[in-house]
Amino acid sequence: MSQSIMPKLGFGTFRLQDEVAYQSVLTAIEEGFRHIDTAQIYGNEEAVGRAIKDSGVARGELFITTKVWNDKLNKTDFINSVKESLTKLQLDYVDLLLIHWPSPANGESMHEYLTELQSAKELGLTKEIGVSNFTIAQMEEALSILPKGALFTNQVEVHPYLTNQKVRDFCAQNDILVTGYMPFAVGKVLKDPTIKAIADKHQVSTAEVVIAWELAHDMVTIPSSTKRENMATNLKALSLSLSQDEINQIDALSCGDRQANPDFAPDWDHDEVKTTHAWQFQGADKALALGLKAVPALKAGQILVRNLTVGINPVDWKFIQADPINWADTHTPGVDGAGVVEQVGDGVDTKLIGKTVAYHHSLSENGSFAKHTVLYAERVMQVPKGLAANVAAALPCPLLTAWQAFSKIPLRKDEKVLVTGMGAVNKLLTQMLNHSGFEVHALSKSLTTEQAEKLGVKLVLRDAPSEGGYFALFDANGPEEAKKLVPLLQANGHVISILGRIETPVDEPFTRTISYHEIALGALHDYGDSQQWQRLVSDGEKLLNDIASGTLNVEEPTDFEFNNLNDALEFSKVQKQKAVVVV
Ligand SMILES: NC(=O)c1ccc[n+]([C@@H]2O[C@H](COP(=O)([O-])OP(=O)(O)OC[C@H]3O[C@@H](n4cnc5c(N)ncnc54)[C@H](OP(=O)(O)O)[C@@H]3O)[C@@H](O)[C@H]2O)c1
Repeated sequence: MSQSIMPKLGFGTFRLQDEVAYQSVLTAIEEGFRHIDTAQIYGNEEAVGRAIKDSGVARGELFITTKVWNDKLNKTDFINSVKESLTKLQLDYVDLLLIHWPSPANGESMHEYLTELQSAKELGLTKEIGVSNFTIAQMEEALSILPKGALFTNQVEVHPYLTNQKVRDFCAQNDILVTGYMPFAVGKVLKDPTIKAIADKHQVSTAEVVIAWELAHDMVTIPSSTKRENMATNLKALSLSLSQDEINQIDALSCGDRQANPDFAPDWDHDEVKTTHAWQFQGADKALALGLKAVPALKAGQILVRNLTVGINPVDWKFIQADPINWADTHTPGVDGAGVVEQVGDGVDTKLIGKTVAYHHSLSENGSFAKHTVLYAERVMQVPKGLAANVAAALPCPLLTAWQAFSKIPLRKDEKVLVTGMGAVNKLLTQMLNHSGFEVHALSKSLTTEQAEKLGVKLVLRDAPSEGGYFALFDANGPEEAKKLVPLLQANGHVISILGRIETPVDEPFTRTISYHEIALGALHDYGDSQQWQRLVSDGEKLLNDIASGTLNVEEPTDFEFNNLNDALEFSKVQKQKAVVVV
C-alpha cells in the first residue's frame, strides 16, 4: 500500500482492551473499515492481530499502523520492540510505523530514534514511517534528519474544538499528511449546537458531520467505537458532502480544547483563538443563551484563559435577574472560573502560558460563563497541583471574601467570635478564625455537630444568645440580621457585615465604639490598586495551597455540563449552593 491507497477513514483502538478490542476490530473490519490504528502502549496489539487474522480479509487490503512507545526510543530497544509488535499483530510488516510522542528534552535525541525508525523501514518492518504529536519545530528537525519525502504523516489531535491550524498549515506546505486523532474529542463535540444544526439539515448524525469535516480538510481520521451501529454510521460519513459555509462554521468552533495533554507533552503550537462559546445575557428574567462570540484582541496586561470549569455562585441568578449594571444583551455574566492560560498580552510574562489559574472577575466585564475569558494577569491565582479544576473554580469568590472578612480584625488569640449564616464564605472563614486561635461560636439552625467539629466551631447556638461579650461578629445573613446581634459585642468590638453595609450604627457615638466593617470583593476591581491585588492574589494562592494540602476543608461542588449552564444557575438558586460547570 502507499499513501494514495491509505484509507482516509481509519479505525482507532485507544482504550480498547482484550475481548472488547478483539470484537471491536473484527466488527469494524466486517463493517468495511480497512485501516486500523493501534500502538504498543494501548496494550491491545495481540487482540488486534487476532481480529485481523480472523477477519479473513487479505493482508494487502488492510492498512495497519502501530506506534513505538516512549521507553523504546533508544537504539537498543527500538527495532526489537517493533519486531515484538509484529509478533503480537501476527504480521510480517505494518503499513505505517509512528513515533508515538516526541522524546522529552532529557530523553533520546531525535537523531537516534529517527535513525532507528528509518532502519525499521529499510528492514521491511514497515512500509511507511511517520510521527505523532510533533510540533512544527519538531517536524522541522525531523525533516532535516530524514530523507526527503520519508515523513509520511504527523498524527495529531484534530477536532472542531482543536483545529490545530498552524500544525496543519505546516504539514500542507511540507507535503506531510495529517492524521487527525480523537475526532469527536471523546464525544464532546457530538453535542455541539452548531454541529447539531448542520447534522439536522442533512438528516445525518453529528458524528458523520464531524468525520465529513475532517475528510473535507484532506485529513485522515481514526474514530474509535465499540458499537457496530456507530461504526456503520461513521463509515456513512464518506458519502456526506458539506458546503464551504458549513465547513467554515465548524472551523470557527476551534477553541484550543485539547484532550490529550500528558505531562510529557511537547510545548504545543497554539492557534490564535478568535471566537468562543459564551452564555449571553438576553435581558432580566430571561434564560441565558449560548452563542459564538468574538474574542477581543488582548490589551497590555491581559491574558486569555481557556476555562476548564466555571464557578456558579448562589447570588449569580440575582445579578442576572436584577441586571445591576445595565448589561448589553450580549454580555457574558459570571465572576469565578479556573482554566489554562492560552495567550498573553503585552507586558505579561509568557511563562504564564499553559499554567492553570483560578480567578474572580469583574461583574462589569465579559465574565466566566464562556469557554474563554479575557482577564488581567495580575488578578489570577495559580492553581497548585493536586487541586481539581472544579474545586478551584468554586473557590475564588467565597475564599477571597472570607479572607477579606478575616483580615478586617486584629489577631486576638482566645477571643470569642460569633459567625452567622453558614454558607461557603463563613465555612472557610470559621476555619481561618479557628486556625488563628479564636474561639468560634456559630449561630445556625442547620449546621450539624459533625460539620461544626470539622470546621473547628467550639459552640453551636441554635438561637441568638441573650448575652455575648464577643470580640467580633461575622454576619452573612444580611445587615438587618447583623444589627440585631450588635448588642452581643464587647466594647471596641467589630461587626463584619458580609452581605451589605449596616447603614446606621446601632450605638450612640462615644458609647461602646463598635467598628462597622463592610465587605465587597467585587469593588476591588474598580477601586483596588495593583499592590492590593498583588497582596490578595498572593494570600489567595497560599489559601489554595492550604486547600490542596487539606489544611482547609471545602465541600465538593455539584458539577454540570457546559451546555446545561442554565440548570446549574437554577440549582444554585434553589439549593443555595455553589455549582460548577465543566467546560
Ligand atoms: N497518537 C496519539 O497520541 C493518539 C492519542 C489519542 C488517540 N489516538 C488515536 O485516535 C483514536 C480516536 O480517539 P479516541 O478513541 O480517543 O476518541 P474519539 O474517536 O474522538 O471518540 C471515541 C468515542 O466516541 C464514541 N463514538 C464513536 N462513534 C460514535 C458515533 N457514531 N456516535 C456517537 N458516539 C460515537 C465512542 O463510543 P462507542 O464506543 O460507544 O461508540 C467513544 O466513546 C484512538 O482510538 C487512537 O487510535 C492517538
